[in-house]
Amino acid sequence: MTTAAGEAAGRLAAPEVGASRPAERAAILAVAQNTGVFTPEEVATVAELFDGYLAGSQQSGYNFLTARAVATGAVLGFACWGPTSLSRGAADLYWIAADPAAQGQGVAAALFRAVEDALRTAGRWLLVIWTSSRPEYAPARAFYLRMGAELAMQLNDFYDRGDDLCVFVCRW
Ligand SMILES: CC(C)(COP(=O)(O)OP(=O)(O)OC[C@H]1O[C@@H](n2cnc3c(N)ncnc32)[C@H](O)[C@@H]1OP(=O)(O)O)[C@@H](O)C(=O)NCCC(=O)NCCS
Repeated sequence: MTTAAGEAAGRLAAPEVGASRPAERAAILAVAQNTGVFTPEEVATVAELFDGYLAGSQQSGYNFLTARAVATGAVLGFACWGPTSLSRGAADLYWIAADPAAQGQGVAAALFRAVEDALRTAGRWLLVIWTSSRPEYAPARAFYLRMGAELAMQLNDFYDRGDDLCVFVCRW
């Protein structure tokens, strides 16, 4: 399975987004690793969630979407979301990532809109996103705001001293 690193340099055409395929597991983990912001433990968690998705998204509660290059099918990015337990309307965005070679070209925006569509189809109206206040997550925070999310809460020293939990929400 190829990744965005194999894509020619330059602006990519809008990606296609669809349910992740079993054969994309390695490429999705490579994207998570390539971003450089996730710890090995976090990448292992992506693998765990993906295996739950493959076993059955109804039972596991994990749904994966892949953004692919239209021309080659290369994996450019992925998102993982799931309905929040004990809530009728909320869903969690667990992960969203674009391969560094494909960033700044609308990959994550296409994934985010696909997650929104999936939530609407599922009859849910609140997307909840947890992220960190650390500098390496500044692109993610800017991205969420650009997608129309609002910072609903910041809980100081949640992840570590000086590393706050930032909760963004999108409603419709
Ligand atoms: C955050 C991230 C997902 C954005 O992916 P991307 O594909 O580059 O984002 P897009 O090209 O779709 O950008 C969509 C919008 O977000 C904004 N945005 C994206 N990255 C940004 C950045 N670094 N700084 C400011 N704004 C940014 C863009 O301005 C863009 O709006 P525009 O079209 O009006 O210019 C990507 O940087 C990433 O994978 N980061 C590492 C993983 C991560 O932190 N994930 C989130 C935590 S799980």
